[in-house]
Amino acid sequence: MGVIPPIPYPVVLLTAKDEEKIGNITTLIWIGTFSQEPFIIGVAVKKKRYSYGLVKKSGVFGINIPSQDHLVDADYCGYTKGSTVDKFKETSFTPVDGKVIDVPMIKECPVKLECKLLEIKELGDHDLIIGEVVHTEIDPSVCDEKGRIDLLKLKPIIANYPQGTYHMVGDRIGFWGMSMAGGRGV
Ligand SMILES: Cc1cc2nc3c(=O)[nH]c(=O)nc-3n(C[C@H](O)[C@H](O)[C@H](O)COP(=O)(O)O)c2cc1C
Repeated sequence: MGVIPPIPYPVVLLTAKDEEKIGNITTLIWIGTFSQEPFIIGVAVKKKRYSYGLVKKSGVFGINIPSQDHLVDADYCGYTKGSTVDKFKETSFTPVDGKVIDVPMIKECPVKLECKLLEIKELGDHDLIIGEVVHTEIDPSVCDEKGRIDLLKLKPIIANYPQGTYHMVGDRIGFWGMSMAGGRGV
């Protein structure tokens, strides 16, 4: 194996379904936002993942952000294959229908993104699955009084690939533009 990518990521859960409408859950960390308007995201997924074929065939997928309360189930979905295990049955995760597209989403995840597949770009050992987010749902319980996500309420799981460890987000240490407000460069 070459270099282990040293970039920390949040853990997300990709959902997709097969023709029998059985939903699958796959744990991912390689995710990025590539456009805000339209809202376009990308996830890096190996071809051999069961979900890869489901996304390719159905043309839709969900991205669900779990909180640390669901750490063990999130880990489980990264060690089991949808081809042999019904992960919705084996975990505490409950499937709910997408609001806008026909894709299973995870009830317990406070952030849910319903995505339409735009393109799959072959890169290397992982392919880039690019999707447009057509619906976003955020549980108000993880937001501040202005409706913005509060990380201390969301409690996302951060993964450190080199050590194979999970971490939680700590105290807020600043805000965007603080260097300007504080006088530096003003
Ligand atoms: C913390 C964690 C992060 C992972 N990130 C990715 C990822 O970004 N891309 C990927 O293809 N697989 C990733 N995996 C591996 C898949 O989740 C794993 O192979 C899973 O069993 C595939 O499920 P499926 O075959 O049902 O799709 C990750 C696993 C863990 C535990």
